[in-house]
Amino acid sequence: VLPEEGRVTWKAPSNIALVKYWGKKPDQIPANPSISFTLDTSATTTTLAFRRKRRADSKISFDLFFEGEPKESFNPKIQTFLERIENYVPFVKDYHLTIETSNSFPHSSGIASSASGMAALALCLMSMEKQILGDITADFFNRKASFLARLGSGSACRSIEGGLIQWGGTDSISGSSDLFGIQYPFEVHPVFQDFQDTILLVHKGQKQVSSTVGHNLMHDHPYAEGRFSQAHENLKNLKPILAQGDLEAFIKIVESEALTLHAMMLTSLPYFILMKPDTLEIINKIWQYREKTNHSVCFTLDAGANVHMLYPKSIKDVVSQFIQNELVAHCENGQWIDDQLGKGAVLL
Ligand code: PMV
Repeated sequence: VLPEEGRVTWKAPSNIALVKYWGKKPDQIPANPSISFTLDTSATTTTLAFRRKRRADSKISFDLFFEGEPKESFNPKIQTFLERIENYVPFVKDYHLTIETSNSFPHSSGIASSASGMAALALCLMSMEKQILGDITADFFNRKASFLARLGSGSACRSIEGGLIQWGGTDSISGSSDLFGIQYPFEVHPVFQDFQDTILLVHKGQKQVSSTVGHNLMHDHPYAEGRFSQAHENLKNLKPILAQGDLEAFIKIVESEALTLHAMMLTSLPYFILMKPDTLEIINKIWQYREKTNHSVCFTLDAGANVHMLYPKSIKDVVSQFIQNELVAHCENGQWIDDQLGKGAVLL
């Protein structure tokens, strides 16, 4: 017998890519492999309540509340997502869904909530599957949650488990798949295991170009093939760097990846720029600081103007001084978020 109703809540973190995913094939298959740090405090909490329909039909039906209020503008994205995954979770059509979601980070902070948001919803759907179909292994649960999350937003498949997550088939990582993220299977030096990510909020407005449009511009992009093979190379090269805790080599790959991501945007047709003057000011300050102090701080970027500053926990206190003295002035309303490597999503 199917349960009449149920309710589940998941909190899923955001993630920041070290090797970037930019460009995709149909069905959310990445054009190149990527790897990310799972974050800790930047997260989405989603409650899914489901009630069995009185009369069976074949339509998806749901209500969505964002931070307590109905949010019409999110509906098309959720509708598309649920239609895309319908075949993998056929039971959803037997229920009316109520989705309540909220983010830990300030509203429209320019932090992409699609990764944490889609991951949290995918996890809720997996708990629903478990309540309806009976027990499933933790491994299958996480893998399918990542698979479903990918169909919502590619990078969301890296927001299920903690630590370093790799997504996208590549020869140097056995078990890697285009369909879901896996925990990085190789040795990771302790210096990386409590890495810090301070997110400097440069520009909180809506992006002019969505990541969907950006991914699509990699079709017919003059540098696409070179870029895709570079990502495979960078992933392979990261293996000994992550094992040995080689911060200098790590910084070179991570910063190059961030600038390459934006270089793809600068050289697509149409071309576009997501960085702001303060993005470049912060990057220059980070370089000057590193040169002066020899501290292993570096930056990475998402598809936006905000800067993620990455560094080992051991220098957190001095880096905080640097942020206060030199970087806060370049943040919109002086806002930034202190985050760090996280342990993955949690069932509440
Ligand atoms: O998950 P999407 O489709 O929003 O793509 C995001 C891609 C980047 O954030 C720019 C890079 C990445 O690998 O996360």
